[in-house]
Amino acid sequence: MRKADTQTPRVALTEIQSAFVASEARYPLFRGAIRSGKTVAGAVRSIARRYQWPGTWQLIGGPSWDQLRDATLTTLLGLLHPRCVAEHNHVEHRITLDNGSGFVLRSLSDPDSLRGPEWHDIWIDEVAYCGEDAFQVALGRISRPGPDGFRHSLWATTTPRGMDFTRNVWGESGQGEYAVYHATIRDNARNLPAGLIESLERRYQGTPFFDQELLGRYTAFEGLVYPMFTGPRPAPCALEECVRVVAGVDWGGITPTALILVGERASGRAHVYAELARPGLGLAEVGQQLAAWSARRKLDLVACDGSEPVAIATLRAAGFPAVAADKSRETGIRLVQERLGGEPPGLTVDSECRALVGEFGEYVWSERRIGATMVRSDTPVDHHADCLDALRYAVMALGQARPLERVALPSGRLVLAYGRARPGTPAARPSERRLPGYMGGR
Ligand SMILES: Nc1ncnc2c1ncn2[C@@H]1O[C@H](COP(=O)(O)OP(=O)(O)OP(=O)(O)O)[C@@H](O)[C@H]1O
Ligand SMILES: [Mg+2]
Repeated sequence: MRKADTQTPRVALTEIQSAFVASEARYPLFRGAIRSGKTVAGAVRSIARRYQWPGTWQLIGGPSWDQLRDATLTTLLGLLHPRCVAEHNHVEHRITLDNGSGFVLRSLSDPDSLRGPEWHDIWIDEVAYCGEDAFQVALGRISRPGPDGFRHSLWATTTPRGMDFTRNVWGESGQGEYAVYHATIRDNARNLPAGLIESLERRYQGTPFFDQELLGRYTAFEGLVYPMFTGPRPAPCALEECVRVVAGVDWGGITPTALILVGERASGRAHVYAELARPGLGLAEVGQQLAAWSARRKLDLVACDGSEPVAIATLRAAGFPAVAADKSRETGIRLVQERLGGEPPGLTVDSECRALVGEFGEYVWSERRIGATMVRSDTPVDHHADCLDALRYAVMALGQARPLERVALPSGRLVLAYGRARPGTPAARPSERRLPGYMGGR
């Protein structure tokens, strides 16, 4: 096979992808909807430049290692002909190509990981989620001396996140060397499974996430109880790696019963891994879902709305660590807000959690009239927020669940054991806890 046949990724690029890949700007940004072809565009530009400039090295960064491995690296390897890869070092996450060029992949969750080596080029996937610090450090790292005529480049691909920092750097439509290539999900329609766009549109219709997630636009989230939530994200790590895992349960009737699964990492940051929300969900189905989640990772606590004491007792009899949740709404909302608002966020939500994501976009503060003016009250509108209620119970319960820790036995063997609950929180073992909602009934 001729070399040229192996080097060129075999994809027919969309018009926007082509323009981005060929961009002469030093800092091009592909800002687009989810599934709009951002990662493919970033990867094709990477491969094209490494073959155009033999012997040059590129850093590929992303917000977390899991995201890099599952999305960015998978896409890159899918586009590279296997014969192009001279060596793939899985420990150092380094790929050497057959022309002496190569890639190194790094999570940018710690911007300091960028200090040290210099690169010819850098690509940052989902840059809005990496934070401005990482981007600013990266700007100073494309300084490795290159061949004659070579111009360094740093390109980024991302779905916007509210009014994130990329808007200041690139502007809505680019400025000078900071060029912007913008795509909606429909711009990549021909490469997506039939029906996907329509189902996502139905899901996001009428919520503020429509513009951001499906149109790739910067969005100001106003009037929302959780304006700091700016859309779903991939899991930062596997559920099994979490130190605390809790479920929240909000019982429904005509309204859906909602179950939420949250895992917290050693860093204190948490991710919502899964949800189940359906009207008329029976206790048996709730038990089945909890059992399925427990099979992945033992649940440390199942925090349920205390209005159904018999259901909680039944779950406990079935072996689940079910307790009546702390339902103080004001405190719970503040806790969820604090976690969502951190940088990086202390709480992220999986894109699989469609009902929960939809509720984030509909949950607004109520307003009341004082004289001629409407003022925002300090309570949310009385609206279906079943998943959000379940999430609030789960987040409150995280402070009560005891973490799994590695403990050394006298023999020296390391085992996983329950550590202490966080200082200042109630005892964690369900049997040791007072169950106010449970005792008090409805
Ligand atoms: N030019 C192309 N030819 C064929 N398939 C493509 C092309 N561009 C994108 N795709 C496919 O479309 C889907 C979405 O592409 P990609 O992962 O690049 O989008 P994304 O915007 O990065 O998505 P996400 O928001 O999930 O990160 C993938 O299945 C990808 O393989
Ligand atoms: Mg992507």
